[in-house]
Amino acid sequence: MFIDTHCHLTDRQFEHDIKKVLTFSKECGVKAFITSGYDIASSEKAVEFALQHEGVYASVGVYPEYADLLDEKALLSLERMAQNEKVVAVGEIGLQFSQDCPAKDVQIKAFEKQIELAHYLKKPIVIHARDAMGAIIETLEKNRDKLTFGGTMHCFSGSKESAKRLLDLGLCISVGGVSTFKNASNLKETLEYVPIEKIVLETDCPYLAPHPYRGQRNSPAFIPTIAENLAKIKNLTVDDVARITTNNAQKLFKLGEKDAAQI
Ligand code: NI
Repeated sequence: MFIDTHCHLTDRQFEHDIKKVLTFSKECGVKAFITSGYDIASSEKAVEFALQHEGVYASVGVYPEYADLLDEKALLSLERMAQNEKVVAVGEIGLQFSQDCPAKDVQIKAFEKQIELAHYLKKPIVIHARDAMGAIIETLEKNRDKLTFGGTMHCFSGSKESAKRLLDLGLCISVGGVSTFKNASNLKETLEYVPIEKIVLETDCPYLAPHPYRGQRNSPAFIPTIAENLAKIKNLTVDDVARITTNNAQKLFKLGEKDAAQI
């Protein structure tokens, strides 16, 4: 069985057929899902959705594009939501240094506040990085003492050097559809280096469908496709990849024994 550790099941692209998508994904062996928020409203939706669906968990957070909206009230909302037992992480949070995002210092402050919140809540973080890997790693290293509960670098596509520094911080590498793209040869080399015990799987659906479905709506049902590709890279069987990455995700997100039995 597999776990999709990062997806957006409340996205508008799923509004007409999410029940079918979940049933089909479970038939494909994907038995647990962590649906992620990216601002306050989507985090609330994620929690509500998780409460209504077996095998679905939520992560709550404000990601870089909305970093300027993370005031005290928003932080309190996240804290309140995270009291729910189906909330297993703070995320996605991070940095994205593109023109449509708030200033770098505003983003770094919001990222640090949420790292602190996750530590206080004793939960792992789910990190989003775009064109900002250097600053992400610097911020994480500066806040090293608040990473006790770990986390994942979601949709990782960085260098071996970045992977090494993230692993040194005790973080996991989350592998998604990008690892299957034909132009992903550098990422493949990086993944050869990352121990399988530090890898979890994700789709980030409805975005970033793996090859050969690139460009289509992504779904948790494509996790086995990502796992098959990773199995080739790591010279393992797909069963090994399923067993080890599921175990990694269960440990990191504390999906308890009761939940595991349900899964
Ligand atoms: Ni995402």
